[in-house]
Amino acid sequence: MQENPMKTLNKLTAAGEKITMLTCYDATFAKLMELEGVDVILVGDSLGMVLQGADNTLNVSMHHMTYHTKSVAAGAPNTLIVADMPLGSYEHDNEAALKNAQWLIKSGASMVKFEGGGDRVETARYLVSHGVPVCAHLGFTPQSVNQLGGYKIQGKTAVSAQKIINDAKAMDQAGVSMLVLEMVPAALAEKITNLIKVPTIGIGAGVHCSGQVLVLQDLLGIYTGPANKSPNDFKSPRFVRNFLQENNSIQEAIAAYITAVKDQSFPAQEHSY
Ligand code: KIV
Repeated sequence: MQENPMKTLNKLTAAGEKITMLTCYDATFAKLMELEGVDVILVGDSLGMVLQGADNTLNVSMHHMTYHTKSVAAGAPNTLIVADMPLGSYEHDNEAALKNAQWLIKSGASMVKFEGGGDRVETARYLVSHGVPVCAHLGFTPQSVNQLGGYKIQGKTAVSAQKIINDAKAMDQAGVSMLVLEMVPAALAEKITNLIKVPTIGIGAGVHCSGQVLVLQDLLGIYTGPANKSPNDFKSPRFVRNFLQENNSIQEAIAAYITAVKDQSFPAQEHSY
């Protein structure tokens, strides 16, 4: 019988082994990821960009998320699946957040992820107290792209870094199981990783996080920006590495990503801030 994926995650954390996470939205890729041994699959609301062609994640709905979560769960029944809560599904009140989180769990996720600190700490505490494992997401939070003024690194000033540290500690104390840190200076991510109990998963957050996440289409080098814009106007973010360029198949590219995260050759300094 397969081990419970949460148990596997706890073992990796206890052993200090780096955790590999990739985004996925369908059964075929999910099956490949499970066969190659990806530790955690994230059904990210990045699907609004990479599947739907939008230039942000703001129009993703619960129906989109549950549909893709079911597909991923069908392809990877033995892997820890984290599903994103889309904009508008968790901010208004805790009851609605719990109902939507449970809908994602019933669709096949083992954990839900949502963005932000501050008031969201109480949402995390509420979901956890009702038996829903939570992954927090701090630093650059794509659902707040308009408020943040674009795709920008967060935590560069002492004040903003301290706010992220405070939110990370509060989320840890609220009982979350994991914390994604997106686009923050590597030194800040390292400090947070050493301060909190739960594993940190970085994307553009340096090599000292407990694990790494990439969007699958970025790992394969096939994302060229919003559907209505020319690929010539698109520049990949600094934290992206095209693993397919260096390998002969999608399977090999995923395997190379796992190896590079585990041996800490990815992310290199050139992928970090
Ligand atoms: O939606 C997503 O893919 C994410 C990752 C970028 C962390 O949240």
